[in-house]
Amino acid sequence: MASGTSRDVLGRGLGVLRQAIREQPRIFAVAVLGSVLFGGMVIASAFVVGAVVGDVVVPAIARGEVATGTLALAAVALFGISVLRVVGIFGRRLGAGYMQYRLQAAYRRRVTRRYLDLPLSWHHRNATGTLLSNANSDVEAAWYPIAPLPFAVGTLVMLVGAIVSLFATDWALALVGLAVFPALFALNVVYSRRMAPRQARAQRLRAEVSEIAHESFDGALVVKTMGREAQETTRFAGRAGELRDALIAVGRLRGVFDPLLETLPSLGTLAVLVVGAFRLRQGAISVTELVSVAFLFTVLAFPVRAIGWVLAELPRSVAGWDRVRRVLDATGEMPYGSRVLDPATSGPATLTFTDVHFSYPPAEAHQTGAKVLGAVGFTVPAGRTVALVGPTGAGKSTIASLAVRLVDPDSGTVELDGVDVRDLTAASLASTVALVAQVPFVFDDTVRANIALDRPGIDDEVVWAALRLAEADGFVAALPDGLDTMVGERGTSLSGGQRQRLTLARALAGSPRLLVLDDATSAVDPRVEAAILAGLRSSAGEPGAPVASILVVAYRRATIALADEVIYVEQGRVVARGTHTELLGTVPGYADLVTAYEQAEVERAQERTYDEVAPLPSGLEIENERSAR
Ligand SMILES: Nc1ncnc2c1ncn2[C@@H]1O[C@H](COP(=O)(O)OP(=O)(O)OP(=O)(O)O)[C@@H](O)[C@H]1O
Ligand SMILES: [Mg+2]
Repeated sequence: MASGTSRDVLGRGLGVLRQAIREQPRIFAVAVLGSVLFGGMVIASAFVVGAVVGDVVVPAIARGEVATGTLALAAVALFGISVLRVVGIFGRRLGAGYMQYRLQAAYRRRVTRRYLDLPLSWHHRNATGTLLSNANSDVEAAWYPIAPLPFAVGTLVMLVGAIVSLFATDWALALVGLAVFPALFALNVVYSRRMAPRQARAQRLRAEVSEIAHESFDGALVVKTMGREAQETTRFAGRAGELRDALIAVGRLRGVFDPLLETLPSLGTLAVLVVGAFRLRQGAISVTELVSVAFLFTVLAFPVRAIGWVLAELPRSVAGWDRVRRVLDATGEMPYGSRVLDPATSGPATLTFTDVHFSYPPAEAHQTGAKVLGAVGFTVPAGRTVALVGPTGAGKSTIASLAVRLVDPDSGTVELDGVDVRDLTAASLASTVALVAQVPFVFDDTVRANIALDRPGIDDEVVWAALRLAEADGFVAALPDGLDTMVGERGTSLSGGQRQRLTLARALAGSPRLLVLDDATSAVDPRVEAAILAGLRSSAGEPGAPVASILVVAYRRATIALADEVIYVEQGRVVARGTHTELLGTVPGYADLVTAYEQAEVERAQERTYDEVAPLPSGLEIENERSAR
């Protein structure tokens, strides 16, 4: 986190700025040039105004005559200065804007790209709300100081110019400047140091608020059905209140320092007038010079604030940057290999697990990961259907994840057609295997888009064929707009069984050579489930139909009975294998499990009938959509 000392924050904040300049050097140069031009013109304007007062106004008052020539000259000079100032402001603003938003866009892209590259184990450890705020508010926070940065750099140059011109004018006045400008600078530094912890805290709370919000929207169904609305609101309100207090603390500090920063230059002007009047009486300076310097102090007050803006934003920037870097520097992604499975042999693939051990990474660094699989070995021969059966928590989903390489084994190998899955390219792997996960995920898009996923070669004909195999063509055809029907966020307008069949069709549309079904048809009617599996099996060999070996996590007797072989797992180990009938006779645990499932089926069937007929109540669905926005 961005704690540490404030000096530390300043140093690291400057490091973030350096990084920004390294990434956008040209546009930064344009912005700084604009800013320096502006600064130069501010100094010039002070001297022209001084000249007008000293050489035109004072003589006019003294002698009653106006030096029209000088006045005209001054007018032309002021006009020219104004034009250049405008050009300077334009260049600075445009440059700073370009730089800030380009960096934001680039880092948003990098962060989201990184999310997709990082393995599932990383995602298990990081809340979705955090990921959202990393890609949004943290990226924005990191680059906030970029907006005033060119102004601040130009102002520094301007301050040096001002001091030099002060010395050229009069050493006494220069001393006033030497006292005031560093004081202004120091005040800004103190300000930003005080600000550091407050800003960091606010930034952290912003993320926490978004995490809580995300969680309660995500679990809207649970929250509502369990009547937890009030508690959830209280939980959110508590954190939102803390954020409010943190931001008010920021505002309070601003309230104290802003007037101080405003006052100091005015005090400087006052000092200039006192010292200047004295020097004027001594005859050391002219009226022109005195007015110029006094005016200079007045016009400098505003740009100097830009330095304060940058410094004040640094803590928040560092906090955001740290959180962004945490994502970008995260390790553990699974590099892909370079081997490609021969597309010519595009029959069903053979899946082989050899002595696979696996443990999930520990939640905390000091813990050791829990061993989930030990010495798992089995084969799904080409074109065959293998059922994976076992009690809950036995490791079936973990085996499914290993088969499609969502995770890699600690030791042992997972091979497709004899090639270690770690040696395959991402594309080869994706076109060879497809997983239909235990929890179906549906995008907030049309039915067609959900199935095709923009993959090449998947036209409506393929989509319908996949839907037919998944026994989903009937309900899709009955939808108001057919394939063009929007299915709502996470498919909330579909029933559980419909969602499952949609995700199954998605997997089938890619014509995978190995299909891994993780309890993928649990919400589907048992008869339909058996029909789907039977269809998948018998389609092997038919022209144009998906040809796949199947690894299916199954519970129902009718489904299991369709498999060529059953692999029975308990506590991460393969306990027995054989046909359903063999296992029923020889493995007591297996027989108990299958019978227990059958009994539970009767009860589940009633719920499912309701589920198939009526999707979520539409009011809730609208609520879901609204809260997710
Ligand atoms: N992301 C994870 N991090 C840590 N442990 C996990 C993770 N996912 C699963 N586990 C643990 O691994 C073991 C096996 O889980 P897995 O999901 O593979 O079981 P399963 O056989 O699919 O169970 P079910 O029938 O309930 O789906 C369980 O003890 C579980 O607690
Ligand atoms: Mg599972």
